[in-house]
Amino acid sequence: MTIRLADIGKTVRDTEYAVRGPIVARATELEKQGREIIFCNIGNPQALGQKPLTWNRQILALCEYPELMHLAPEVFPTDVVEAAKAILTGTRHGLGAYSESQGVRFIREAVAEFILERDHIAVDPDAIFLTDGASKAVQTVLRLLIGSPHHGIMVPIPQYPLYSASITLYGGRMVPYHLDEANGWKLSRTMLEESIAKAKAEGTRVRAICVINPGNPTGAVLDEGNIQMIIEFAMAHGLSILADEVYQENIYLAGDKFVSFAKVYHRLAAKDIPLFSFHSCSKGLLGECGVRGGYFEFRNVPDAVAAQMLKLQSVCLCANLAGQAAMYAMVRPPKPGMPSHAQYVAEKGAILEAMKSRAILLADGLNKIEGISCNVVAGAMYAFPRITLPAGCTDAEYAMALLEETGICVVPGSGFGQAEGTAHFRTTILPPTQKLQQVVKALGEFHRNFTEKHAPALQR
Ligand SMILES: Cc1ncc(COP(=O)(O)O)c(C=O)c1O
Repeated sequence: MTIRLADIGKTVRDTEYAVRGPIVARATELEKQGREIIFCNIGNPQALGQKPLTWNRQILALCEYPELMHLAPEVFPTDVVEAAKAILTGTRHGLGAYSESQGVRFIREAVAEFILERDHIAVDPDAIFLTDGASKAVQTVLRLLIGSPHHGIMVPIPQYPLYSASITLYGGRMVPYHLDEANGWKLSRTMLEESIAKAKAEGTRVRAICVINPGNPTGAVLDEGNIQMIIEFAMAHGLSILADEVYQENIYLAGDKFVSFAKVYHRLAAKDIPLFSFHSCSKGLLGECGVRGGYFEFRNVPDAVAAQMLKLQSVCLCANLAGQAAMYAMVRPPKPGMPSHAQYVAEKGAILEAMKSRAILLADGLNKIEGISCNVVAGAMYAFPRITLPAGCTDAEYAMALLEETGICVVPGSGFGQAEGTAHFRTTILPPTQKLQQVVKALGEFHRNFTEKHAPALQR
């Protein structure tokens, strides 16, 4: 007898993941039919033409195939060879063998040093797990925190659907808190208090708050005061904090800088509540989404609970070793004076500059379209413009029509959550500049036509 859909667990059936939902499926179908599709639905930099950093790829090449070491220094600079040898020695058996479940200790030590250098705070390599991308890290922590159907996790609205999907999958309750669109998508203590009060009144035991900084899909960058407010809120309510910091290098405005939750948490001596911080090699300037490297670092988690996390991780043995090696390359870039330094700086600078100018181009271009308004894209890789739709139309219909008519694939705002009565879509800033200009132009024409076509007869 075959498997019936009805036999599959309800939590699996209820799980939704808009970033790869029906609109993307249709886009793939159209592409197969020969249509040119611009995939703006997902932050997948290399799929949109971003070149991988040479430093990273050379290290990975040597780790995967150490026989190439003899090509040094004509092909592989000596610092690359040294880094690859250090990784291979650290793993003991190379990339083809499982590592310890928590991840290669030598690489965890490098991650700990990276955090120490960034934040000037003590870091324990044994409080770091290397994971298959940040997604698996977030899932491990959510899995741990959701112990009953009454357990709730506070999630920003709009949010990255990894959170809503995983909370549904693990049988917990999502407790939404709204980001303030009119105020650059910042969050306020009042909104957080309202959200938790409502959840408690509904019988939810709120366990944790997730924060994405810089924000996906909002593009907002939190300042230190905002982060302190969130930590104090979490302390007041005894919540764990999940700090998703995968876009920490993607900051575009001159006055902004990335401040980690760990740093502020340390300054506030917030020892009573657990903090989990996430990072990845998929975003930033590496854009190595396919390599699946990530980590989480935790603070103030009792040993017995950490042992449960280790058990969860060990069920899948360990994170993939190429991803672990990429994390090493990410946290240990070449230093000034090393042979690869100049090229690394040039490549990194070019990527960041391109992202910055596209962030401006996209937000400015969208704001020129009547019926679309977009906050400044201060960080991350996305714009989340608000759209005025004709009565009766949904953002999903809008996104599907946009795809069919222009070949531009975006994700409807409903996939991320949005304030009632508003409509949005999310697009990345990643297509090459010329393509992005094309996207803005096509969007303008499409929006006008769509509005006209669906306007009530009297208004036409
Ligand atoms: C906010 C956020 N967290 C986590 C992830 C997952 O990243 P990874 O590829 O490391 O699993 C993404 C990917 O887009 C993201 O936007």
